[in-house]
Amino acid sequence: MRIAFCCTDVKAGPWLDELRAAVPDAQVEEWQPGAPPADHAIVWAPPQQFLDEQQQLKGIFNIGAGVDALLKLRLPAGARVVRIDDGGMAVQMAEFVCHAVIRHFRELDVYADQVAQGKWGFRTPRRRADFPVGVMGLGVLGARVAQAVAQFDFPVNGWSRLPKELPGVRGYTGAEQFGEFLAATRILVCLLPLTPDTENILNRDTLGKLRPGGYLINVARGAHLVDADLLELLDSGHVAGAALDVFRDEPLPPEHPFWRHSKITVTPHTSARTLREESVAQIVRKIRALERGEPVAGVVDPQRGY
Ligand code: NAP
Ligand code: GLV
Repeated sequence: MRIAFCCTDVKAGPWLDELRAAVPDAQVEEWQPGAPPADHAIVWAPPQQFLDEQQQLKGIFNIGAGVDALLKLRLPAGARVVRIDDGGMAVQMAEFVCHAVIRHFRELDVYADQVAQGKWGFRTPRRRADFPVGVMGLGVLGARVAQAVAQFDFPVNGWSRLPKELPGVRGYTGAEQFGEFLAATRILVCLLPLTPDTENILNRDTLGKLRPGGYLINVARGAHLVDADLLELLDSGHVAGAALDVFRDEPLPPEHPFWRHSKITVTPHTSARTLREESVAQIVRKIRALERGEPVAGVVDPQRGY
């Protein structure tokens, strides 16, 4: 069995070492143009040439949860696309979003400014009931996030394509209930996959439906957000602030206004990182299962886009 590793912007050495140790019976190589075709591929943003050279691939393992970039390419027929299914990302995402929610709700940035000025002072405690949190996307990551936030007694709403029942989360489904979901939400968390249906979904109209003094936490993809619309709503005060981990262009260009906006917190696409050890173990387990003809979790439906 041949396994090709073809990941842009990823240091191949440690991955190759761990993969070779985990599947000693396979030939695991970093892809070079013209290499013999592989049975399985481990990829992140591979060049089109790599995919065009593959005629016998059974599995294309994306070393992340989001497959939007991969699905833009021409994929070899018959190969299943498999995403990382949690692999330690859900707990990271839960801690990141809970931190952002609490930092905003408890006005910790205001306290940090006060302390920097040597001031000792108290803010009036806010009511949790006034800060309902809405999670867009209740998949592997969104479900974990929604339930983690609910542990802090915030009212939590969740929105998905198909109905979902999660303890402590009020579910809203599909386009018909989207407006109702937004109107019931003040802190909005985006954990949708990027698909033609969800691109630009965070815009003037949708963010405008949030409760006044809304707050946006985008940890999904930059292309979900219309940047200019957010800036306009921050200026008008309808949206109080945003924590943005993902951007249309990454790295975020130096001249982009998000860098210096007083109401925006920027992080460099780091809310849930791919963990090599967990990912190698998961991918190897799935390669073995596919080789035995067994089903595996996390197979992407290219028509649906996630
Ligand atoms: P997932 O398991 O595929 O879940 C996607 C969820 O979105 C599902 O609940 C799905 O609804 C819902 N959804 C999809 N299209 C929808 C639509 N048109 N309307 C309403 N709901 C829709 O994905 P995941 O693993 O939770 O990851 C979500 C995204 O997070 C990834 O695609 C990636 O872009 C992003 N991500 C970011 C980072 C980071 O570091 N910033 C790290 C990892 C992932 P159904 O349940 O009804 O199908
Ligand atoms: C990271 O953004 C991922 O999709 O895993």
